[in-house]
Amino acid sequence: MDIDALVEGSKDPIDDTWLEGLQTRIHGTPHRHPRFLYRLALELKPPVSMEMGVEWGVTSGYLCAAAAEYGGQVIGVDIKTHPRPAGELHERYGNYTFLHMDTQQAVSYVERLVEEHGPLGLVYQDSAHTFAGFKQEWTDYAPFLDDRAAWVANLYPGDTLAGYWKWLPVKKKYAYRDSLYRGATVGVAVLG
Ligand SMILES: C[S@@+](CC[C@H](N)C(=O)[O-])C[C@H]1O[C@@H](n2cnc3c(N)ncnc32)[C@H](O)[C@@H]1O
Repeated sequence: MDIDALVEGSKDPIDDTWLEGLQTRIHGTPHRHPRFLYRLALELKPPVSMEMGVEWGVTSGYLCAAAAEYGGQVIGVDIKTHPRPAGELHERYGNYTFLHMDTQQAVSYVERLVEEHGPLGLVYQDSAHTFAGFKQEWTDYAPFLDDRAAWVANLYPGDTLAGYWKWLPVKKKYAYRDSLYRGATVGVAVLG
């Protein structure tokens, strides 16, 4: 899998005018990380994708759009709630489960969804943004990953999470600074 090509391809909009319009309304200039995750999901076709830290549901929407193309499921976890992740995404794409809770509390719910639908093949980590929180999430969710999974982490702000990325026990790790997310590094770890 050519990750650099997927990053490059994330400059281009995806073929979902609702999502692209939503991004423009919310972010002004669209962010590239949701498009990258969409393209990565189409490559990996994960039975289950998960976003930790969903906020307004934009990135979850891109994961749902990809999963709708090959028949996957998407889980979003956030301590805050918003009508889009809480209802609209599932109504639109039919494949989204929103867990309104802390990522540690969500483990047993995710375990049940994985038992039902298959392993986690793509995770986007964008929640607490602390070393301890991110490390805990890896420890909690790594057992549910399939052997070709990708684990993508938004490492803002600045270099504060560089230590976490160095710690992450995956051999194939890539870091994209300022391209997928303005002013931050996005790390992409690939298990397979
Ligand atoms: C930067 S926003 C996420 C943006 C989103 N991933 C996107 O790409 O549009 C971070 C979110 O993480 C959530 N969050 C922070 N700590 C969390 C935790 N421990 N468990 C679940 N959600 C958490 C916050 O409520 C917030 O909505």
